[in-house]
Amino acid sequence: MNGPHLQLEVYPDAGTACRTAAQRLAQALAQGGTAALAGGNTPRPAYRMVAGMDLPRPTITLVPTDERCVPPDHPERNDRMLAETLGDRGYRLVRLPAELGPERGAREAEALVAPLLPFRVVLLGLGEDGHTASLFPDHPALEATGLVAPVRQAPKPPPERITLTLQALSQTETALLLVTGASKREALRRLLAGDDLPPRRLTVSTLTILADREAADMVEP
Ligand code: 6PG
Repeated sequence: MNGPHLQLEVYPDAGTACRTAAQRLAQALAQGGTAALAGGNTPRPAYRMVAGMDLPRPTITLVPTDERCVPPDHPERNDRMLAETLGDRGYRLVRLPAELGPERGAREAEALVAPLLPFRVVLLGLGEDGHTASLFPDHPALEATGLVAPVRQAPKPPPERITLTLQALSQTETALLLVTGASKREALRRLLAGDDLPPRRLTVSTLTILADREAADMVEP
């Protein structure tokens, strides 16, 4: 299928891929602006590196690409992870009200996300099944027309989530996909082979994939 141009950059290890992600975030945010940031485990080291960088924090807004429907401050919240890794250092962190449940949470988040567009940079992750943000393969949220969509029965726990849509995530100057570890190898192989996985449906012109050697093992040097 068509979709963004996939620009693959392969780094020797996860630490180097994360350092590159941190540098790209810092470059994109050097003059301020908004970043939409993936949850999950992969980007944590990158966020910790950004926390140590010199940035115009009062002019920077951060928002998670998706949020889990658990109470505020629950350890599984992406906004909590962002606050913990990036440090409470003067950025504005927009919290998506997923505690209200998928439908109401997505409805109320819509008004919070609209004024943030377009993003300066979006950093996405990739699930073993090829999902990105909380946009899972074959899930109705892929067809959502607004900026934030409700998600029920997500294959990755917790099953209830809200997610920025393809339309929202595609409104960005820079789109990055950070993929590390052998467990992501098959999903990355499928994405590069042209399978209809959610990141392929972004309407950005280029999606830059920052991968480590383990994840990109199948790619010829
Ligand atoms: C989430 C994410 C999700 C994540 C991928 C990869 O909240 O679950 O935003 O899309 O980026 O599932 O997660 P890992 O980095 O933990 O493998």
